[in-house]
Amino acid sequence: MALKSLDDLFVHFLRDMHNAEQQVLAALPAMSDSAAGELRKTLDDHRDETEQQIANLERVFEMLGVEPDGVNCTAIDGILAEGRAIIAEAEQRDAREAGLIAAAQAIEHYEITRYGTLFAWATELGKPEAAKLLRANLEQEYAADRKLTDLAGRTLNREAA
Ligand SMILES: [Fe+2]
Ligand SMILES: [Fe+2]
Repeated sequence: MALKSLDDLFVHFLRDMHNAEQQVLAALPAMSDSAAGELRKTLDDHRDETEQQIANLERVFEMLGVEPDGVNCTAIDGILAEGRAIIAEAEQRDAREAGLIAAAQAIEHYEITRYGTLFAWATELGKPEAAKLLRANLEQEYAADRKLTDLAGRTLNREAA
């Protein structure tokens, strides 16, 4: 699709995120399997949130009357590949946990940047209902990131002890 207008870019980025969220949904169980305790629960909870986020995106596509498919998010593909490599290589528990948290935060930060842009564009394009749904997704990503920052602090403190 040629990107001629902000409307076109908006749809392109929405499709990019729809694909990214599906990749994240598929990747989270393996990340959770290699985690324990609170980190595992955080990843499992975020899997449920990811399903809601996909549903929110699909509501936005319905509102716009466009299909959700057609864009492959190569950025999240790379971030997830890096995460898999960390899990595969980290042998010791604390190192694996720190690596998993870092990988998960890279995912959250990517999602935050894209939802931040999509929210701003929805507002700019005069689509308040879409903006509200995108804002809800953005808030969940921020909350997940804060939770991971908190867990990272505790993991590092435990390692230092
Ligand atoms: Fe997400
Ligand atoms: Fe997320």
